[in-house]
Amino acid sequence: MSSSTGVRGQGPGTRGRRSEVKGQGTEVDYLVTSESRIPEPRTPNPESQIPKSPNPRTQDQLRATNIHKSYHKGPVEVPVLRGVDMEVRRGEFLSIVGQSGCGKSTLLHLLGTLDAPDRGEIHYDGRRIDNLPAAERDRLRNHQFGMIFQFYHLLPELNTLENVLAPLMIRHGTWSYLARRRQFKCKAKELLEMVGLGHRLKHRPRELSGGEMQRAAIARALVTKPCLLLADEPTGNLDTSTGEEIIHILRDLNDRRNLTIVMVTHDRSIARQADRIVRLVEGRIAE
Ligand SMILES: Nc1ncnc2c1ncn2[C@@H]1O[C@H](COP(=O)(O)OP(=O)(O)OP(=O)(O)O)[C@@H](O)[C@H]1O
Ligand SMILES: [Mg+2]
Repeated sequence: MSSSTGVRGQGPGTRGRRSEVKGQGTEVDYLVTSESRIPEPRTPNPESQIPKSPNPRTQDQLRATNIHKSYHKGPVEVPVLRGVDMEVRRGEFLSIVGQSGCGKSTLLHLLGTLDAPDRGEIHYDGRRIDNLPAAERDRLRNHQFGMIFQFYHLLPELNTLENVLAPLMIRHGTWSYLARRRQFKCKAKELLEMVGLGHRLKHRPRELSGGEMQRAAIARALVTKPCLLLADEPTGNLDTSTGEEIIHILRDLNDRRNLTIVMVTHDRSIARQADRIVRLVEGRIAE
């Protein structure tokens, strides 16, 4: 990764230090401020109860209680989560570790409202979210969550820059997006520079390496200034030094923007960069 990432030279143990990314442009400025206000939607839905900003009175930003989840393969039931209890405090950087197949991605998808638990409840900022109607879940994800998927889920027909812009297109709608397109592109390019992908803006996902797709997915997750980042093996396809740089970026966001991060990883040294590590064992959380 080039020095354009702005994190070169930050080794482990630099937690809390001022980053070199400061002052390099609008997007980077956003990344190093504590601003986390969410813009008003173009057509506010009076029905919507989704909190528009974190409630400071609620210490746990995210809480999962007695979560059960099984998959069904024909007549066979595959129990995966068997009573997960966990909470994530505001501004916390939490790692979830566990054996392959133990249900880490399943849990992250439930926390991100991409799937619903069979039993149990998930609360975000004091409000139950696992049973919200689909449109409210979509809005919650777009406005509050950033998600980095284990298998990236980039849209194959869009290039790197367009993939990163996609959440902003969804959030703002066509006309508002077009009116601010230049500003958004600038923001997306700066994020792609930050993850070392400024030279691959026009590449489609099939023309990127695994690590490059992963970095594009990271930029996409950050472009909406999320309040909560759910990251599934965000360094799983990266070489050690690029992986460390990505973790330094995440830690920096955690330190400076108070971005709450829940990260799944199988890499012990990566997991140790978090404030707290929990282990998923036999469908439950063991601290
Ligand atoms: N759609 C599905 N249908 C049936 N079984 C599934 C489905 N999705 C996941 N599983 C099973 O659920 C279990 C948990 O899967 P999950 O992807 O959550 O594991 P993981 O801990 O993230 O593993 P890894 O570390 O390898 O990514 C696995 O045994 C998997 O085979
Ligand atoms: Mg997984």
